[in-house]
Amino acid sequence: MLDRLSAVPPDPILGIISAHAADPNPNKIDLGIGVYKDEHGDTPILECVRRAEQILDSTQTSKTYLGPPGVTGFNSAIGELIFGSDSAALKDDRVRTIQTPGGTGALRVGADLLKEAQPDATVWVSDPTWANHNAIFPAAGLEMKVYPYFDQDSNDLRFDEMMNTLQDRGPGDVVLFHACCHNPCGVSPDPEQWEAITDLATARGFLPMVDMAYLGFERGIEEDALSVRRFAEKCPEVLVASSCSKNFAVYRERVGAVSVVCHSAQNASDVVTVINSLTRKNYSMPPTHGTGIVDIVLHDDELTQLWRREVDGMRNRINGLRKILSDKIEAAGIEKDFSFLQRQSGMFSFLGLSVEQVRRLREEFSIYTVDSARINVASFNEGNMDYFIESLKSVL
Ligand SMILES: Cc1ncc(COP(=O)(O)O)c(C=O)c1O
Repeated sequence: MLDRLSAVPPDPILGIISAHAADPNPNKIDLGIGVYKDEHGDTPILECVRRAEQILDSTQTSKTYLGPPGVTGFNSAIGELIFGSDSAALKDDRVRTIQTPGGTGALRVGADLLKEAQPDATVWVSDPTWANHNAIFPAAGLEMKVYPYFDQDSNDLRFDEMMNTLQDRGPGDVVLFHACCHNPCGVSPDPEQWEAITDLATARGFLPMVDMAYLGFERGIEEDALSVRRFAEKCPEVLVASSCSKNFAVYRERVGAVSVVCHSAQNASDVVTVINSLTRKNYSMPPTHGTGIVDIVLHDDELTQLWRREVDGMRNRINGLRKILSDKIEAAGIEKDFSFLQRQSGMFSFLGLSVEQVRRLREEFSIYTVDSARINVASFNEGNMDYFIESLKSVL
C-alpha cells in the first residue's frame, strides 16, 4: 500500500538550512530560518526559562498524564496574558484556554473545532500569509480563500482593499489575522485600523481568528495583544491560536494554546468538551514540560519581570537592527528605497528581490534566503551586516 506514495518535496526552508550548513564560506549568512538569533547568531535559552526549568525539575514528582487540558495554571495564565486581567469576557467566564503542542497545534485544533461547528465555513487568510496556514485549514477539511493584505510596490498594507473584501464577509466566514509581526511581510494594521476591523467584524458577523505567534516582538506585550482584546470586547465569538515558541524561546518544547471566546459561559464550557474530544482522538494527552515551565514563570513575580525584560531585549534588538540596516543601506548609496524595513516589525520582511537576485546572493555570496526574498532580520549582527549590504549592492 505504501508504495503508492511518492516523495513530497521538502520545505524550501529546510533545503536552505542544509545548503547553508554545508557551505564552507566563512562569510555565509542564513536569512531564511524563522528563529530569533542574538548578536552571536545563537538562539539561547532565556534565563527565566532556565530558572523555571530548575524549579520544575526539583518539584515535579510524577510524569503521569495530566488529562486533556494539561497544565491548568498555564491555561489560566495565558488566558490573562492574552486577554488582559481586566477582560470583561474573562470576568463573564466566556473564555476558555487549552494548551496545545505549539502554535501550529493551536491552529490545527482551532481548525478542527471550526470544522466540527460549521463544516462549510470558509476561512479567509491574508495574501500572503504564513505558508503553513495554507496547509492547516484545508487539512482540517475547510475551504480557504484570501483577502488582499500586502502591497509589494509600497511595502505597506492594502488596507482599503482588505476592508472592501471583508465588508462582504458574514456569518459562516472566519477571518484569520496575525496579531502582530506578520509573517512573512512584517506589516501590521495600526491601532485605528484594528478598531475599524473590529467594528467591521461586529457589524458583519464574521468570526475573527487571531494567530498570535510573536506576542511582545512588535511594540510590547500589552500593545501586541490589542487586536485580540478589542475583538474579545466587541465580538461574541473569537478564536485565538497563541504560541510561546518565540517569546519564551521554547521552540522545541511545543508550547501553545487555543483560546475561545464564546457568547455565554455555558457555551464556553460546552466548547471545551468538544476541544477535549478532538485532541483525544488526535494526540490524546498534551506534553507538559514546556507548559510547566511557562506556568512557573508566569506565577512568579520575579520570573515574570525577568521574562518581560528578556522579551523587551529581543524586541529592541530586532527593531534596532531594522533601523541600522535601513540606514546603512542608504549610506551605501543603494538607490532602491529600503526604509520600509524600519516601518515594519517583527523578524520578517520581504526584500523585494527577484528570484534571480536571490539566486545570485546564494551562489555568489553564500547568503541564503527563500525565493520570495523573505528575510529574518534577527539573523543580522555587527559582523555580517556590511558584507550583506555589499552583496546586496552587487546583485541590485
Ligand atoms: C505566523 C505563525 N503562526 C504560527 C507559528 C507556529 O509556531 P509554533 O508551532 O512553532 O509554536 C509560526 C511559526 O513560525 C508562525 O510564524
